[in-house]
Amino acid sequence: MDADKKKLFIKTWGCQMNVYDSRKMADVLAGMGYETVEAPEGADMIILNTCHIREKATDKVFSEIGRLRAHKQAKEEAGGKMVMAVAGCVAQAEGDFILKRAPDVDLVFGPGAYHELPEMLMKATGERVVNTDFPAEDKFDKLPGEHKSQGPAAFLSVQEGCDKFCTFCVVPYTRGAEYSRPVQAILNEAKAMVDNGTKEITLLGQNVNAYHGDGKDGKTTSLGELIALLAAINGLERIRYTTSHPKDMDEDLINAHGSIPELMPYLHLPVQAGSNKILKAMNRKHTAESYLDIIDRLRKVRPDIAMSSDFIVGFPGESDEDFEDTLKVVEQVQYQSAYSFKYSPRPGTPAANMAGLVREDMKSERLERLQNLLNNQQLTFNQKTVGLTMPVLFERKGKQAGQLQGRTPYNQSINVPANDRLLGEIVDVQVTEAFGNSLAGTVETTEMIYKAAGS
Ligand code: 5AD
Ligand code: SF4
Repeated sequence: MDADKKKLFIKTWGCQMNVYDSRKMADVLAGMGYETVEAPEGADMIILNTCHIREKATDKVFSEIGRLRAHKQAKEEAGGKMVMAVAGCVAQAEGDFILKRAPDVDLVFGPGAYHELPEMLMKATGERVVNTDFPAEDKFDKLPGEHKSQGPAAFLSVQEGCDKFCTFCVVPYTRGAEYSRPVQAILNEAKAMVDNGTKEITLLGQNVNAYHGDGKDGKTTSLGELIALLAAINGLERIRYTTSHPKDMDEDLINAHGSIPELMPYLHLPVQAGSNKILKAMNRKHTAESYLDIIDRLRKVRPDIAMSSDFIVGFPGESDEDFEDTLKVVEQVQYQSAYSFKYSPRPGTPAANMAGLVREDMKSERLERLQNLLNNQQLTFNQKTVGLTMPVLFERKGKQAGQLQGRTPYNQSINVPANDRLLGEIVDVQVTEAFGNSLAGTVETTEMIYKAAGS
């Protein structure tokens, strides 16, 4: 730790986009002499990077501010200063309210404004600041270049915002309209990441497959085309993308799964519900049939593709029959993984005023049935991979000494006894055991094969 450096503590809630944003904030502030620390004690700046998707999100932020107040007071009693900032989607949605209710907060800024942190920080030392503008276009351009390694598997934000307006969702209000970064900026960033040791890139966006960035000669480029350009980068071995909307799964992107080996055979494609009546009320712009058709087409070009999804149970008006339709979709797809939630109203969204509320105990019952089914499917998927040898990218040290943790092409997490020198490498691993959420395996080495052959 450098004694001259100022200390920055960032707490991140929510999605991968927020994890990525936090890293970018740390980069911006590194240019102002801040280094990131793991605990809030004694920090010169604390950023709470918040998520608005979960229930009671705002309450959680206020309780965290309450917990951190003691650190701020201790710092001030010792003659120092601690800037407390609230960023992300709760900041975007509740900016003024936060300043009013939490006098310890000096700075509130939305996801569109973190490139202006240096200016905001200067101001915040004097007056309290709210910045919830949406200048997405220049946000990315003003960011400093990547100057440190992001690890073997890293995220790259290519798209932000959403124009879909699903009736349950706050994202179009908190993250604003769709914006796609220009192709060249993405390629430059990807190359810099690969030069720093990254082998797998996950392209991020709230509605990533709506990507339509400016390419060379001003030509609009689709996500499928962007992936093909990225795949040509030497040393970039694996590409993934998340999160997608069924309506934007175009021919280019489906075909990319069949023709680009770097594109991993895994797709998170939320369906939310299986009843067309509910999908319509959700304003999802797709039906159960059109969703299943996309998966058929994907499986035609890439038969082993692993599917993942998000589900909401208990949306207003959901009958037993509607819920059964959701289970039917699950039975038909056979998911590798999934996230499922009970519907909860988000203030300001159209569904929050809809009639036909589903009782809480009914929601719980439905969620339990759905999750049992999904958990069984996940275990079955994992079990089917036992005995296979797959290339695994080792991303980090395992929980136990002498182990590394990585992911298979199907995005399964796997723990393997392996030497630290294999960290960051893609290595052939034989799967030996399957659990609900992970696998165990052994490294295939010529030595082992030789021994096996000789015994
Ligand atoms: N209630 C329950 N789940 C929600 N999600 C988004 N908004 C709500 C809500 N109001 C879920 C959706 C989405 C995921 C990120 O969170 O399934 O895909
Ligand atoms: Fe929200 Fe996704 Fe619907 Fe956009 S597509 S409104 S981010 S659920």
